[in-house]
Amino acid sequence: MYTSLALALSLSSCLLAGAQAQTTVAAWNQCGGLQYTGSTICVSGSGCVKLNDYYSQCQPGAATVTSAVSSSTTVVPSVSSSTITTSAASTTSPGLHTLAKAKGLVYFGSATDNGELTDAPYKAILSDNSEFGQLTPGNSQKWDATEGTRGTFTFTRGDEIVALAKANGQLVRGHTLVWHSQLPSWVSSGGFDNATLISIMENHVTQVATHYKGQIYAWDVLNEIFNEDGTFRESVFYTTIGEAYVAIALRAARAADPDAKLYINDYNVDGTGAKSTAMYNLVAKLIAQGVPIDGIGIQAHLISGSVPSTLQANWEQFASLGVDVALTEVDIRITLPTTDAKLAQQATDYKNVVAACVAIPKCIGITIWDYTDKYSWIPSVFSTQGAALPWDENLVKKPAYAAIAEALA
Ligand code: XIL
Repeated sequence: MYTSLALALSLSSCLLAGAQAQTTVAAWNQCGGLQYTGSTICVSGSGCVKLNDYYSQCQPGAATVTSAVSSSTTVVPSVSSSTITTSAASTTSPGLHTLAKAKGLVYFGSATDNGELTDAPYKAILSDNSEFGQLTPGNSQKWDATEGTRGTFTFTRGDEIVALAKANGQLVRGHTLVWHSQLPSWVSSGGFDNATLISIMENHVTQVATHYKGQIYAWDVLNEIFNEDGTFRESVFYTTIGEAYVAIALRAARAADPDAKLYINDYNVDGTGAKSTAMYNLVAKLIAQGVPIDGIGIQAHLISGSVPSTLQANWEQFASLGVDVALTEVDIRITLPTTDAKLAQQATDYKNVVAACVAIPKCIGITIWDYTDKYSWIPSVFSTQGAALPWDENLVKKPAYAAIAEALA
């Protein structure tokens, strides 16, 4: 089980520890890794734990190596301050994306954001394409980031993430072209008439999708267009243009980047219910009308212990329309503080969610909304909630990781 830590390998950098007097590294700080040049000696009571080739970390209570470790590891002779443990999962899992591919999915991926990319240990795990075969920019392709001023387009931050994915051999989900939120006030409060707002929206979709043409596996063309009761959300697009805005946006996206798969994405379309029925009915109608639509994005921002029991039935229903289904923003939040029992429940929840996707051939990918609690959006939006992702805030795998791997095995 995850909680039983296994002795594992050390870094050669730790061997250098005795060469000169070093300051001690505080708990949770870096103590080793490729290209790391700082102190490798952890503060008393902590041990230097290898998380990946790029990062070892001082963890309170980590055991000190006093004897040879398993045959697959590098044995470090008598380095008294070097302590080496890592989770069993991290040494045995081939990686979530590798597992997902073997199971027939197109990818297992993660959202990320520009500010986080200066965090080298974070970036190293994000860039490991055995774990993540796909990235989603968490914010930097949204309307406020790309066209904050009418007609002036900025792609720098989105480009950074797309370039990183390309360098890592990862797919990109584009997120998002038309959304009521993170929409500049020049659009939402501009008082435009129907024809003008159509042309503004078409221009936005065209410019952004053209800029990224050929580099995006799938676009969330439309995001969160429904109310909970299945009626259309009264965004400026709906109130000004009417339902037709959906088809107009999809057609503009198809024209701009014919190879990108086009999705409508929403939350609370996980289990069956009014909102899921509305999604189903809309996509059926679009297909009947010949409007380009390739997939339904299920955000899957879920609550641990309250995951709907109808996930698979609902997603099968979506898939029966002939479109792809993807879990696009998965996180499963916990009421803080965490306990072992809550983490175990969360692991079960993750396993059930991933298993439901795996059971459906048309469920082609799973994206978690960032991979570590360090950068999760949850605590900033849902007070008292958090710890929603499979890696904790110290970039250590949680029980949820092993549960996902199990569901993908
Ligand atoms: C979130 C980002 O993660 C935050 O950084 C930002 O402050 C707000 O938006 N549904 C979506 C995502 O489609 O774009 C949202 O992302 C989370 C909910």
